[in-house]
Amino acid sequence: MDEAQCRACRLEASRTQVVVGRGPRPSPVMILGEAPGREEDRTGLGFQGAAGRVFEDILAFLGLRREEIWLANAVRCRPSIDGKRNRAPRPDEIAACRPWFLRDVAEVAPKAIVTLGRVAFESATGQTWDANRRVEPVRISETTEVLGLYHPAYLIYRRNLKSAYREDLMRLRERLDALNIRLAPPRGPWTSGDDQGGGH
Ligand code: URA
Repeated sequence: MDEAQCRACRLEASRTQVVVGRGPRPSPVMILGEAPGREEDRTGLGFQGAAGRVFEDILAFLGLRREEIWLANAVRCRPSIDGKRNRAPRPDEIAACRPWFLRDVAEVAPKAIVTLGRVAFESATGQTWDANRRVEPVRISETTEVLGLYHPAYLIYRRNLKSAYREDLMRLRERLDALNIRLAPPRGPWTSGDDQGGGH
């Protein structure tokens, strides 16, 4: 089946469009988010709006550009309450979408999959998320490992997490470097070392 026409779960009835995975194939880095929100559902693109701005800062700090990574969500259609508020994806929706993740991994052949938040980590690894084990590599095949981060939306509300997030990103950079993934020097607001930087 074509991903853009997927009917594997109830979300097909309420979505505007499937927010399909995007990026170069192959790509050494895959980034996996949770699920589209209103803006993503409207535009068909991942990480727009407020979470998207934090996402851009994360990419800049890692020295990566959107066009050089594979970007997808664990759930590819927007879960909402009557099309108004976003809601968390349900376990059966996450399970119904997993074949698209597995197809992506086979086609993109990433060395590293960076998961954003619990849902993405659990979908990618089949293991329970433990926030104390952030950025600890979990190997899912001979050639691919998963590295878990907090979801960037966390940072919008919890400014005190920012320095922890910055440390996680520094450890993530080291790990990507050890995997021989080419990264530009860190850019963006977080390089200043100022925890209040970024403006989010
Ligand atoms: N936008 C996405 O595409 N995914 C998320 O997990 C959050 C916002």
